[in-house]
Amino acid sequence: MATILLGAQWGDEGKGKVVDHLSASADLVVRFQGGNNAGHSLWVGGKKTVLHLIPSGILHPRTRCLIGEGVVLDPQVLFHEIAGLKQAGVFRDERERILVSERAHLILPVLKEVDLIRESSSRGTSGHIGTTGRGIGPAYEAKARRIGIRVIDLYSDDTTLLGKLDRLHEAYAHHFEPATLSEIRERTWALISGFRRDLAPLMVDSTALLKQAHDSGQEVLFEGAQGVMLDLDHGTYPYVTSSFTTAPSAGIGAAYPKILRSSRVIGVAKVYLTRVGSGDFPTEMRGDHDPDEVRIGESIRKAGGEFGATTGRPRRIGWQDLVALRHAVEVGGIDEIALMKGDVLCGIEELQGVFKVATAYETPDGLRMDRFPARAEELSRLKPLYETFPLWKHAHPDDPAFATLMSRIEHFTGVPVRFVGFGPEREQILER
Ligand code: GDP
Ligand code: IMO
Ligand code: MG
Repeated sequence: MATILLGAQWGDEGKGKVVDHLSASADLVVRFQGGNNAGHSLWVGGKKTVLHLIPSGILHPRTRCLIGEGVVLDPQVLFHEIAGLKQAGVFRDERERILVSERAHLILPVLKEVDLIRESSSRGTSGHIGTTGRGIGPAYEAKARRIGIRVIDLYSDDTTLLGKLDRLHEAYAHHFEPATLSEIRERTWALISGFRRDLAPLMVDSTALLKQAHDSGQEVLFEGAQGVMLDLDHGTYPYVTSSFTTAPSAGIGAAYPKILRSSRVIGVAKVYLTRVGSGDFPTEMRGDHDPDEVRIGESIRKAGGEFGATTGRPRRIGWQDLVALRHAVEVGGIDEIALMKGDVLCGIEELQGVFKVATAYETPDGLRMDRFPARAEELSRLKPLYETFPLWKHAHPDDPAFATLMSRIEHFTGVPVRFVGFGPEREQILER
């Protein structure tokens, strides 16, 4: 049986926590897209673990973790993460727990440099994406240009590999002074022998692995990164990531789609909204419609610890947006919702006992809009039309105010709220 878990907003919904919870009964957890732009936080027994690449099932000793071919893999980050987990006593031998698809594309130094150069040269313009600067966009771009380097390429003879590396570096040469490019090339070649040595024991034919898991009836959990609203096709393009974050992406980024035929898809959503990087969202607490919103947003950021797990950037805060959530449910293929972080709002005085949820927008021409628009420039011009809900005392289905919010979400999106998160710790989640 397979389960796919996705972010239903703009990332950082609490996916790591839900994956950790579900992994108690999973044989295999598979990351199928994204790279170390992700930051998934797990709290177990008062101890925090942040994972960028390794799937969030790793803290369960019985669970193996696969990095699928849809992922763009920075080997330096992988080995750093492995060393940290070893030091924390999570495992002694990574070969027993971590597997890497031979077809996954590598993030090499030149791709990280290009990401940073593009970010700094576009600052202050509408072309600035506010990426995590980890080389994700350039790595997917190189893959689509058919000049990418894959894990398996490391095991070609030197001449073949050097030829591929030359082609990659030449394609981006215009970004650099010749001396800088030479330095990057040399630095990359110096890293290769370590990558070859350390990746070899982890490398697998993931199709064979997943087929075997399927045929022997294993529980497989597919862990999404980012969120549906950051999907390359269905998100707020161009302010998105460079991979596909919806459920069908699991069948492409982990190569045995038959295993997904009877899968269930869980979409993780926070009670409120956050976003890091550029790109508008209609319900952001910017204060244009209500000056108190800025203070409310600051309190939520503080109470919810809303700072990027990867870059440390403050996350922008907004009210819940059911038009956006329904869009995510539809395009993401979501069957059920995990509703997280309702506990964060309980002590926030600035809310004055009221929580707002957008259920439609009004255009500048005064027209009502019920669907999420395709044009990103439109988003800041839309006025959200809110329904108000009494604030709950406990983020729990037995709390009448929280139950009212949950049933509104279910009615609006057409899917049930199956999980409720009420704190960061492993045990602070309930399944209905
Ligand atoms: P991810 O990228 O979707 O895995 O989410 P992040 O780990 O980037 O951000 C979610 C943050 O919220 C983390 O610090 C989690 O520990 C925390 N968290 C997750 N679920 C809950 C919850 O239900 N309540 C509270 N208070 N914190 C939560
Ligand atoms: P998790 O898995 C939140 C955002 C960046 C930027 C855009 C493109 O922890 O939810 P990229 O580096 O991917 O080219 O940046 O996407 N972004 C995320 N925002 N959570 C993430 O991951 C994100 N990964 C990328 O901030 O706006
Ligand atoms: Mg995150």
